[in-house]
Amino acid sequence: MSHAATPRKILITSALPYANGPIHLGHMVEYIQTDIWARFQRLRGHSCIFAWADDAHGTPIMLRAQQESIEPQQLIDNMKAEHETDFNDFLISYDNFHTTHSEENKHFAEQIYLAAKANGNITTKVVKQSYDPEANMFLPDRFVKGDCPKCGANDQYGDNCESCGATYSTTELNNPYSVVSGATPIEKDSEHYFFKVSDFAEFLKGWVNGSHEGNRTVQKEIANKMNEWLDGGLNDWDISRDAPYWGFKIPDTEDKYFYVWLDAPIGYIASFKDYCNKNPDINFDDYWAAGAEEKTELYHFIGKDIAYFHTLFWPAVLKSANFRLPTAVFCHGFLNVNGQKMSKSRGTFITARVFLDHLPAEPLRYYYAAKLSNTVDDIDLNLEDFQQRINSDLVGKVVNIASRCAGFISKKFDGKLSDSLADETLYQEFISASDSIADAYESRRYSKAMREIMALADLANQYVDEKQPWVLAKDETTLPEVQAICSQGLNMFRALITYLKPVLPELAEKSEAFLNAGELQWDSVAAPLLGTDINKFKPLMTRIEEDKVNAMLEANKVLLTEAATLQSKTATSKNTSNQKSDDTQLAQDPISPTIEYDDFAKIDLRVVKIIKAEHVEGADKLLQLTLALGEDTENGEEQRNVFAGIKSAYDPKELEGKMTVMVANLAPRKMRFGMSEGMVLAAGPGGEDLFVLTPDDGALAGMRVK
Ligand code: 2FM
Ligand code: ZN
Repeated sequence: MSHAATPRKILITSALPYANGPIHLGHMVEYIQTDIWARFQRLRGHSCIFAWADDAHGTPIMLRAQQESIEPQQLIDNMKAEHETDFNDFLISYDNFHTTHSEENKHFAEQIYLAAKANGNITTKVVKQSYDPEANMFLPDRFVKGDCPKCGANDQYGDNCESCGATYSTTELNNPYSVVSGATPIEKDSEHYFFKVSDFAEFLKGWVNGSHEGNRTVQKEIANKMNEWLDGGLNDWDISRDAPYWGFKIPDTEDKYFYVWLDAPIGYIASFKDYCNKNPDINFDDYWAAGAEEKTELYHFIGKDIAYFHTLFWPAVLKSANFRLPTAVFCHGFLNVNGQKMSKSRGTFITARVFLDHLPAEPLRYYYAAKLSNTVDDIDLNLEDFQQRINSDLVGKVVNIASRCAGFISKKFDGKLSDSLADETLYQEFISASDSIADAYESRRYSKAMREIMALADLANQYVDEKQPWVLAKDETTLPEVQAICSQGLNMFRALITYLKPVLPELAEKSEAFLNAGELQWDSVAAPLLGTDINKFKPLMTRIEEDKVNAMLEANKVLLTEAATLQSKTATSKNTSNQKSDDTQLAQDPISPTIEYDDFAKIDLRVVKIIKAEHVEGADKLLQLTLALGEDTENGEEQRNVFAGIKSAYDPKELEGKMTVMVANLAPRKMRFGMSEGMVLAAGPGGEDLFVLTPDDGALAGMRVK
């Protein structure tokens, strides 16, 4: 095996969920992604501690507790218990789940702030802010609403208009009102504390673009974005809020509190400290003291929307207070459901609890794994595809191998596996795949790992199909072969389960019990099970029926309607989760209508040659293509310049000389980088898996497809 002989010591975190709302399937993308990685590392023999917490501070939590007439402490305690139940039921194997409203976090927030202050990185300034004269409190932007200054839409938040997309400051709203009391806000001065991020500009430039053992500290797309911010100059970061505020008081002040986003990431440290308190053999400094980078690895899994906090503010704060730095920050995209943003009005803002009430956790874990890559592309939970994928991959392919082979071994051979493999060469393919699958897990290209595992499952099923043990079993003379064939099948099944274990821990556990040979480790595959006894086979996984999915959606809709009714009676607060819902998109959602043949006939599809493919300076997704349309035009060879969003899938050099299909009569479109004169056709789930259509016959150049 190629992995390091010395076990690595790794600490990983997921972003901390706010303690004012339930966990939903958008959150679960991240927790499942983190958990699979943690389980994979452990399966490989490394130490991987997964420590995180609830993000328990801030105005929304304070106000929600007021609405419910309970103390904030009560609210965050209730939420923490609910959140943990959801995580456990989704088989998230975290080691510690703490809260940012804890002694440990108070200690580290103060320590970090005082160190930053002593190092000259804190300054104060008087700022003007909206103030609610009835509730006697300063109002965060999202707690002031009014009419959009651009389009006049009612009931828009103080920072941007969800109807026309304009951004502005709360003072520009027409007819502003406080969401807390309904009063008209006034402007009031207040002294605020700022962290001078710009003191760390040079350091951050190096850090954001740096790497560890050849892997980037921050994914390229994110680093590009952060470089833009860095080049544009960094503003001081406002880290204080005025009382009343639910959080920690800033040392040496009377009524100033740390802004929730200051102490939230410090919660990573505090949770780990809490874990060390419970596990005295773990040394805190090995993981967090300056220089810990040499001993241990630290990774944060987060959504792309909070990259700014984690790749600029957070490393600067750690640097200022002389703590270690993250080895890398791993960003993922958002979750869409059925091709569209999760939406309360469409009923696709699905809570973890409602899902679990109707469906088991493992299918979702597998589906997410089959979709996740190491890019920040959004992933789509298509519920029909979900159901089919589970039934065909897990039930139809993986589990099926065991159920086809186990019965013969039990009934005809007293549960005993053969002493040698029937097809060593074939089994060798399962061993050889180990490194490539491990690389895919390690680099978070889970979809690639799942594809490779399913390709092996296909091989295993083909083998059983060809050998037809059910035919051989009818004849006494060929019966001995049946044992060898079925033992081969079960060993291939065992390899598949080992590779799937980070994703499907329950299936792995049941399979371990059935195979009766202890816990599977990554390296178990190298030594097949021979001559041992298996236990009686029990069904390992059942099909997902459509009515279960529908019942889940129905129950979720009911819940959302109830919540909406409740919310309309009380003050609104922003749904500050990793995944923002966006109901206002409803009217513009791109639901593809059916088109008539005549519409289709208008499209001029041509096979063309890509004669040049280049990167586009400053574009995250685009490649610039020069396409040759062939010689059949009046002016000799016609060429077109087309910008295609396929950068995540192709190295431009790979494309040059290839044929592809383009829409030749698309009206030219002016883009930021130049004119795009047509469109090339590509298909696939996105990210690395995006394929331009490539008819392989070069002679077709310039030919119309239809
Ligand atoms: O965006 C959010 O949901 C935040 N509660 C994430 C905090 S992550 C970390 F910084 F604590
Ligand atoms: Zn507007």
